[in-house]
Amino acid sequence: MVESSKVLYEDDDHQYVWFGWEDPDTEEALVQSNQVLVVNQDQGYLFDPGGAFIFAEVAAEVNKYLPLDQIRYLIATHQDPDVLSSVTLWLKATNARLLVSRLWVRFVSHFGFSDTSRLIAIEDRGKIIKMPAGGEIVMLPAHFLHSEGNFSFYDSRSKILFSGDIGAAVFPKGERYLFVEDWEKHLTYTEGFHRRYMGNNAALRKWVTMIRDYPIEMIVPQHGAIIGKEHIPKFLDWLEGLQCGTDLLDEFYGF
Ligand SMILES: [Fe+2]
Ligand SMILES: [Fe+2]
Repeated sequence: MVESSKVLYEDDDHQYVWFGWEDPDTEEALVQSNQVLVVNQDQGYLFDPGGAFIFAEVAAEVNKYLPLDQIRYLIATHQDPDVLSSVTLWLKATNARLLVSRLWVRFVSHFGFSDTSRLIAIEDRGKIIKMPAGGEIVMLPAHFLHSEGNFSFYDSRSKILFSGDIGAAVFPKGERYLFVEDWEKHLTYTEGFHRRYMGNNAALRKWVTMIRDYPIEMIVPQHGAIIGKEHIPKFLDWLEGLQCGTDLLDEFYGF
């Protein structure tokens, strides 16, 4: 049984907390998702808050670490329902503003809110937020991996990368684990997802080249298991060589 939250990094003024939502009854119908809360001094930053269906559970768990009214930003890697369909509820429950790709700012209101003054567009090349007690959240371009307007989030204080759908794994029922141990076995849960959901190898190579410039302690994807430092070089090498998405058009179209 995997727990529902865990502190992945902590110092006097900073915490990086993972939340892993999973419903054992509907596991096969509803993909498991990871959420992250960064707490710096008295301010919170919530990454990929999740689906509307899971709002109550995630909010209750987040509230154990930080009062909801201290969340400063909700930050979305992209526009998908598993990332953001809870956004209307989060905007009501907090005073936070939502950061999302400029491509999606005019679409996400369709999740059910009208106050666009709380929306901030992330430009294509990314954005940096400075945190009050030191450190930055760096929104790094991850376009076409898989969404056209897509980002990964690097916390310079903990050196943890939240990679969104990149690195996601989908486990068979009862097989889920929190940290990757056996990389070869893990690939069997992650390869099919990447072949179909990621844009193409050119986008992967672009992202990998950029990511190699950052010192990274661990990678937290939006689904599946956390990739520890010892597996990161293998993970990046694998992504760099992967054929996916538009590289495989003939296979997906069937002619
Ligand atoms: Fe997605
Ligand atoms: Fe996702």
